[in-house]
Amino acid sequence: MAQVTVTEQLLLHQKASPMATGRFTMLLNELILAAKIISREVNKAGLVNVLGFTGEINIQGEKVKKLDEFANSVLIHRMQRSGLLCAMSSEENADLIEIPDKFKHGDYILIFDPLDGSSNIDVNVNVGTIFSIFRRTAENGPVRLEEVLQKGSEQVAAGYFLYGTSTMMVYTTGDGVHGFTLDPSVGEFLLSHQNIMTPEDGKIYSINEGYWNYWDEPTREVVSYFKSSANTQKKPYSSRYIGSLVSDFHRNLIYGGIFLYPKDHRDSKRTSGKLRLLCEANPLAFVIEQAGGLAIDGQNRILDIEPCELHQRVPLFIGSKNDVLKVKELYGKS
Ligand code: AHG
Ligand code: MN
Ligand code: MN
Repeated sequence: MAQVTVTEQLLLHQKASPMATGRFTMLLNELILAAKIISREVNKAGLVNVLGFTGEINIQGEKVKKLDEFANSVLIHRMQRSGLLCAMSSEENADLIEIPDKFKHGDYILIFDPLDGSSNIDVNVNVGTIFSIFRRTAENGPVRLEEVLQKGSEQVAAGYFLYGTSTMMVYTTGDGVHGFTLDPSVGEFLLSHQNIMTPEDGKIYSINEGYWNYWDEPTREVVSYFKSSANTQKKPYSSRYIGSLVSDFHRNLIYGGIFLYPKDHRDSKRTSGKLRLLCEANPLAFVIEQAGGLAIDGQNRILDIEPCELHQRVPLFIGSKNDVLKVKELYGKS
């Protein structure tokens, strides 16, 4: 069987769009290369203390970097020089990342979480890179923060790389969700999941249940509903929580289910939840909607939220349509 590579798929998409210049395809190809480099290092994470990282880092005499810092610097280094961006923001950087003058005339804005789930690296659990791409709204000139703070519904592409049992890329450009698996023997992402649709009713709920005492009432009610036999499955859902959003999300996308990270009253930091609107919630919300699911903050569609700041946090309920609608119903009552 002929195997479609992600580059072929991108080129096909480009040909189908009369306005396409090829620059968007180049942008995704740059991201793919960065992800392959990150994947290579993630795959030997356990060997770092035995062998040390080789190459760039050692030659420069820097001390071995933590993998999340490594992933961040690979993405910044590659994407900064692509000539395709006008602005860039990472979960790891407090402010917008500077793009050198001669490279900053691109049309696109890239926002990313370089290594999501990074607390799991030391114990060999899946992690991933999440990305969100916007087009700039002004014709030219320096990018202002307001241009980066666009609603998620304006994203032109979003997705993630998952460094799991295999390395996968899942993305959408608003025309369905497609999944590719890295074949390490040829170094190419091959189409493995065409047009992913998530089940309308899930059978899994994913939440850090240790925080039960800190949750608001609607979250407790909906989790009780998923655990009861009164739900659409007529039996308790399975509880699955890796603590790596991108991995929890991916499993639920394929099997059907809901991921919940509500606001809680642990301390003043968690009153809007933990997850970030721009680099985590928005891109996954775009993916899930394209796969037939939903993403809300309890009441509102994630993609309709007007961001006020780069690192804004948001409560997140994301997954199978009817499960998310149940959350909305219970929040509506309270
Ligand atoms: P990151 O590793 O990018 O900082 O993100 C961690 C996030 C997310 O991946 C995960 O779903 C969540 O933190 C888990 O939080 P709790 O430990 O509070 O459950
Ligand atoms: Mn994260
Ligand atoms: Mn991260």
